[in-house]
Amino acid sequence: MTLILAIDQGTTSTRAILFDEKLQVVASAQEEFPQHFPQSGWVEHDPLDLWSTTAATCRAVVEKAGIGADDIAAIGITNQRETTVVWDKTTGKPIHNAIVWQDRRTSEMCRGLRDEGFEEVVTEKTGLLLDPYFSSTKLAWILDNTPGAREKAEAGELLFGTVDSWLVWKLTGGAVHATDATNAARTMLYNIREGRWSEAICKRLNIPTNMLPEVRDCDASFGECRADLFGRPIPILGIAGDQQAATIGQACFAPGMVKSTYGTGCFALLNTGETPVVSKNRLLTTIAYRIDGKTTYALEGSIFVAGAVIQWLRDGLQVIRHAAESQPLAEAADEAQELVLVPAFTGLGAPYWNADCRGAIYGLTRNSGPAEFARAALESVGYQTRDLIEAMKADWSAEHGDAEMAALRVDGGLSASDWGMQYLSDILDAPVERPTVLETTAMGAAWLAGHKAGLMPGMEEFAAAWARDARFEPKMEAATRERKYAAWKRAVEATIGFGS
Ligand code: G3P
Repeated sequence: MTLILAIDQGTTSTRAILFDEKLQVVASAQEEFPQHFPQSGWVEHDPLDLWSTTAATCRAVVEKAGIGADDIAAIGITNQRETTVVWDKTTGKPIHNAIVWQDRRTSEMCRGLRDEGFEEVVTEKTGLLLDPYFSSTKLAWILDNTPGAREKAEAGELLFGTVDSWLVWKLTGGAVHATDATNAARTMLYNIREGRWSEAICKRLNIPTNMLPEVRDCDASFGECRADLFGRPIPILGIAGDQQAATIGQACFAPGMVKSTYGTGCFALLNTGETPVVSKNRLLTTIAYRIDGKTTYALEGSIFVAGAVIQWLRDGLQVIRHAAESQPLAEAADEAQELVLVPAFTGLGAPYWNADCRGAIYGLTRNSGPAEFARAALESVGYQTRDLIEAMKADWSAEHGDAEMAALRVDGGLSASDWGMQYLSDILDAPVERPTVLETTAMGAAWLAGHKAGLMPGMEEFAAAWARDARFEPKMEAATRERKYAAWKRAVEATIGFGS
């Protein structure tokens, strides 16, 4: 057997999935790990939990499949992006918990940088906006707030990495300190046009460049894992941040193709081809993938709360016991009540980029109950996606005139909800397509590693094999759609206004 082991280190759990040469799933294992919320708006992970769940799920999946290490040709890694880890080069110990992408502790720092006009420099070089979402201000915060960290960093004793880098370093027993171009693009330190770390940004944020990883292609050699982990060293041949891996897994290889992944948050990426498009609508410009030395760019819309709103129904409001109960509950809602939920639990991402506002619900009546809340929660995912797609369409037509964007391809946990996807299509007034294989993120990482190992079909063949399980066509009346979307826009405006 020749298999590829894909590691998917996500925000709430770590998964290991074995794929065969035809990219069929052979076996998978998953483990959740603790989330730490030391203060309001702060989110941390213990880097050792990220590592131990990676090692444990890899071992578990090998055991489950009843295979040996000799059957695994290569490892591919995909990961939650932006989350920031700093560790001691000699002891290998993290000097602080990982600061997670959702964490807003550096919003004051970002405001200060924006006030001095630094956002222009950031956007020009990195394609990003000045927001706490990205790694660089989190890294600066760790250096400023961990005793002795700055001196050690300057002496070259500390290493920085996004989660992929940390895992590569652990898997290779400290032999390799590297990342791939997609993860580098999310640090707010990487010049995506020139393909190198930006000295100007590092200097302004006081980040010594000697602690940054080497940046490689997504399909590249990232060393071999320690022999004692699986019984023999296995090469690591592919890495991409999870949203970029999903873009690959959805075979969005042509300019104009767009995918949206519904995990904790929702991230829509539009392939824009070989030249980076600068958004005029507050979207991010990012690297979709760098394969065989060739960079393909994307416009990205990032929403912080999508699937997390269902977790809130379950764990916060406790009106459902399992995520799957949200759909039937939403279907039972009284349609006459038009509740609008703005799930700004950690502020708002694209296209609003407001780190300080917090969530709100509008339109409550004496009869509003769990069903109406569930419906408002699912509907908020549709409205937020429409915000992103509208911004993308505007940027796309500014570049390409009347050329149409392709139908939206969806994946991730929430995309399993037929009701939610129908609502999405209704609110977008556009078709939505769901693939047969929903494991697009892990599949993207597996394809990269398999491609580098010479085992997988080329891009065109892979794209031709993409198959859809469902296509949702818009059914809602235009007047209803626009009335509902206008209510959402008013609700967002009021929420932002309330927080300021
Ligand atoms: O940018 C954050 C993103 O990479 C996290 O993805 O799937 O863990 O919500 P997910």
